[in-house]
Amino acid sequence: PLTAKVNSSGCLEIGGCDVTSLVAQFGSPLYILDEETVRTACRQYRDSFKSYYPGESQVVYASKAWNCLAVCAIVHSEGLAVEVVSGGELYTALQAGVAPEKLYFHGNNKSVQELQLAIDSQCTIIVDNWLELETLAGLAKLPVSIMLRLTPGIECHTHEYIRTGHLDSKFGFDPHQIDRVFSFVSKNPNLKCIGLHAHIGSQIFELQPHHDLPGVMVEWLKKAADYGLPVTHLNIGGGLGIRYTEADDPPSIAEWSKVVCEAVTAACQAQQVPLPKLMCEPGRSLIGSACVTAYTIGSRKEVPEIRTYISVDGGMSDNPRPITYQSVYRAVVANRMSAPLTETVTVAGKHCESGDVLIKDISLPPTQPGDILVVPSTGAYNYSMASNYNRVPRPAAVLVKDGEANVIIRRETYQDLIRCDRLPERLI
Ligand code: LLP
Repeated sequence: PLTAKVNSSGCLEIGGCDVTSLVAQFGSPLYILDEETVRTACRQYRDSFKSYYPGESQVVYASKAWNCLAVCAIVHSEGLAVEVVSGGELYTALQAGVAPEKLYFHGNNKSVQELQLAIDSQCTIIVDNWLELETLAGLAKLPVSIMLRLTPGIECHTHEYIRTGHLDSKFGFDPHQIDRVFSFVSKNPNLKCIGLHAHIGSQIFELQPHHDLPGVMVEWLKKAADYGLPVTHLNIGGGLGIRYTEADDPPSIAEWSKVVCEAVTAACQAQQVPLPKLMCEPGRSLIGSACVTAYTIGSRKEVPEIRTYISVDGGMSDNPRPITYQSVYRAVVANRMSAPLTETVTVAGKHCESGDVLIKDISLPPTQPGDILVVPSTGAYNYSMASNYNRVPRPAAVLVKDGEANVIIRRETYQDLIRCDRLPERLI
């Protein structure tokens, strides 16, 4: 879906910008975000929900995938709401101009300060557990809009670290406590429970778990109404996977949306529940494919008969996903797009650990130091999980569209790295 092509000089172009020129201008490594691809994904979700769901709907961007001012502003301008999971994400979304009524605050251990910020900013709080419910009941001086997150007990096939729907999950109320929770909320007039939430996991290719989820949730909805709760919203979470390599074959946004919209409609009919305002909460599938990371190739090591390493000027600090989840990526060489792929190499990062390998055994054209390696599908959970490990400054990010490039996150400097350091007098 990326608006990418190879130009007449055999170089990769994204959003009408030559990637090698972008690196020359903005430095390396560089996150390059294609605005059109983000907007297209927003519209695909929005339009699919409009066409497949007979009731009202709202798509919510799970901003943990990439939370920064520009990304929040883009999705908000497409009519999406924004989900945040910390005071920092909430602050950023507010600064980006996201309307409080379009903000949803998640998290399994929100601090009192975070809850107060959420109350003050008048966003909707997705309550995850008893402590939060009781704290909120104490803090709320006026009615606060909340939704309740429950664990649906639905299994899916994805990496163990990113499954959330199974009963043995740290997120959400255990469904066995549902009566106690609804009863507590119904007795607290300042807790205005407008809906229910569940999320089953991330990078999911199967449609079955999402087909099954609404049946469980609509039962909860019915029960909530029995307790007199004003539940009108149903948020079925996110989780649709994206293609990282040729082997990945995820359903399209439209296919996924059709399945969930039809499943919610059918469950409501079967259980005679009025259609709720249907919300979904995608992160990865909205932003993941819209970004590439460009690196500069440096040193090379040939281990006879075993492998050849080529190293790049970034690694696990700008993309911690391979080392964390064994995620597999592919890559191209931006300045040699037409050259035959005659070499098999392993792309290593620059960090001081052997596990800092971005891609194992990939076919590339023969490369030279200074060539630009481009890794696609780095929009989700890359910048947002980036670190300063080894005191490596975080890369810049540019937004490209119609041949124009704007910096949306400036490159960190060495001064940035020590901005929070303090040297006690006695050490000087
Ligand atoms: N809603 C909730 C409550 C979530 O916890 C998540 C993701 C989402 C929505 C969005 O899920 P998505 O559509 O992006 O799959 N760092 C991991 C992914 C962690 C996902 C956490 N929750 C990774 O890099 O794969």
